[in-house]
Amino acid sequence: MERQNGEPLVRMVNIHKWFGRVYALRGVDFEVYRGETVGLIGDNGAGKSTLIKILSGYHQADQGEIYFEGQKVRISSPRDARKLGIETVYQEQALAPNLSIARNIFMGREPVRRWGIIDRKVMNEESMKALANLGLRLRSPDLPVVTLSGGERQGVAIARALHFKAKLVILDEPTVALSVKEVEEVLEFVRQLQREGISVIFITHNLYHAYDIAERFVVMARGKKMADVKKKDTSPEELSQLVIKSAFAE
Ligand SMILES: Nc1ncnc2c1ncn2[C@@H]1O[C@H](COP(=O)(O)OP(=O)(O)OP(=O)(O)O)[C@@H](O)[C@H]1O
Ligand SMILES: [Mg+2]
Repeated sequence: MERQNGEPLVRMVNIHKWFGRVYALRGVDFEVYRGETVGLIGDNGAGKSTLIKILSGYHQADQGEIYFEGQKVRISSPRDARKLGIETVYQEQALAPNLSIARNIFMGREPVRRWGIIDRKVMNEESMKALANLGLRLRSPDLPVVTLSGGERQGVAIARALHFKAKLVILDEPTVALSVKEVEEVLEFVRQLQREGISVIFITHNLYHAYDIAERFVVMARGKKMADVKKKDTSPEELSQLVIKSAFAE
């Protein structure tokens, strides 16, 4: 599907990032259109996670600008990102493992009764509804997240994005360390986001997973964007070649 018309949902312009002496991002331009899924690929250390962590407020760029729905924005914290409608699903950091499923879904946005007391009943009911909408049946909203499988954890994070009507969901290696069945579940969660018209950035080393789910691919290597190709103009094999060639290019 062609969705390149109109203005991007997010546009990152000339992003530079240093970690001490490590020049992690060297002037990256990156955009995501409304309802579009972009596969962000490239070798280890290419700068993929750094780029999306700037978008989700975990890091600040040393130089460059971010536009969201056409407006220049400052994203100084994960909270700022969430306020804009940017949700991030990391393998490790997205959830608080010892808190319950319901607490994780509401994290910082808990419904309150009078006197500011958290309304656990509403929270539990809405959590179960959000998970059921995703086709995920978990025994109880009170279970701590540590007791869930990797795929289920991704599901909880995605249910949160759907419940709070995120505009952009970022998944960084969501299929790492998952069983084949769980991978299929996670890809199905992403399809659900797509059906809701939510934009997605999908980072993976598995080009078949990326190819399955994304409409466009951005290849990074050593802090730079090396290629930007639409699915209809490429194949998993060609993407693999692009990743390898980019890693060795000068
Ligand atoms: N917090 C940090 N402190 C210091 N250096 C960092 C930090 N985060 C990333 N880097 C460095 O920045 C560069 C880009 O790392 P980044 O994690 O963005 O790569 P990546 O493309 O996500 O790689 P991978 O596919 O292995 O996850 C690497 O050289 C990395 O070592
Ligand atoms: Mg990474």
